[in-house]
Amino acid sequence: MKKQKKYILAIESSCDDTSAAVLCNDSVVSNVVATQAIHEQYGGVVPELASRAHQQNIVPVVHQALDNANIDKKQLAAIAFTRGPGLLGSLLVGTSFAKSLSLGLDIPLIEVNHMQAHILAHFIAEEDSRKPDFPFLAMTISGGHTQIVLVKDFFDMEVLGQTLDDAVGEAFDKSAKLLGLPYPGGPLIDAHAKNGNPKAFTFTKPKVEGLDFSFSGLKTGILYFLQKQTRQNPNFITENLADICASVQYTILEILMDKLQLAVTQTGIVRIAIGGGVAANSGIRERLKQAELEKGWTTHIPKFEYCTDNAAMIGIVGYYKYLNGDFAEQRIAAKARYAI
Ligand code: KG4
Ligand code: ZN
Repeated sequence: MKKQKKYILAIESSCDDTSAAVLCNDSVVSNVVATQAIHEQYGGVVPELASRAHQQNIVPVVHQALDNANIDKKQLAAIAFTRGPGLLGSLLVGTSFAKSLSLGLDIPLIEVNHMQAHILAHFIAEEDSRKPDFPFLAMTISGGHTQIVLVKDFFDMEVLGQTLDDAVGEAFDKSAKLLGLPYPGGPLIDAHAKNGNPKAFTFTKPKVEGLDFSFSGLKTGILYFLQKQTRQNPNFITENLADICASVQYTILEILMDKLQLAVTQTGIVRIAIGGGVAANSGIRERLKQAELEKGWTTHIPKFEYCTDNAAMIGIVGYYKYLNGDFAEQRIAAKARYAI
């Protein structure tokens, strides 16, 4: 029998991207993301400005997603939205919008945990992509999160470790800022690192027990190192930019790979799925490829547009919850802190 087509509208507004997507079952029909440029001048996300920008963006972004999918809102079977975790003022915009639309159209409302969505993004139907088999280890690495999760089933996940302070993307962005690079500096560190020597300078790796992470000490270490060097040579940064970027990136990747190796050793699971904006880093991609060859791991990285914050990943969770009949009530509230 042919599978019935179910269209789900998904909304993501947990941080600084306003996004809406339309899925037909597990396939993405449209995925629109409005990135808020306003934060660039502040070197980081300003929560109040983010929620104001979501207010302005949400209606046009949803319209665009429906237009691109070439469907009318009356064809929608359900609405999925990010309930948390994230910035409360940002989450409120998407939550209120989704609740009103579900009430107006009289269709089910589905709440989605943003961290589960980063992981289940691997199940978006894509030509020539392999979906991970359960159980697998998911490492979500972005400007807002750093987590290793044991994924036993779609909705059976256990956080094995996470950052105790900064997220790994922040470590990239804050290091970049110290080097005078604009925000977000992660992609620029990646680009400069390609021309540098990763062993040129050594930075101390944090000593954190188990599978938790810490990145704030690394940033301080880099700051002191740069202060010392520029006292001796004011042009130190410009003269050594590629080597510094390569060394910073190398240290961050060592931290991530050490923890992944520990997670593999502890669980005996060699299926690894990476997500989040930092998964775009060319160095981590190389290291994972190397681990496939040398350690026999199976690794998965979704398409870039499903790595960074996007509504398509909210939609795939919405689809699986729809199949389970797992719907939310109108009185549901956004949650800034929301464990997997
Ligand atoms: O997932 P994302 O778009 O938003 C958050 O939820 O944070 O991730 C953005 C983060 C930023 O910190 C950015 O610098 C980092 O991902 N990033 C990268 C690269 N591309 C994006 N970091 C290192 N190398 C990259 N190529
Ligand atoms: Zn995210």
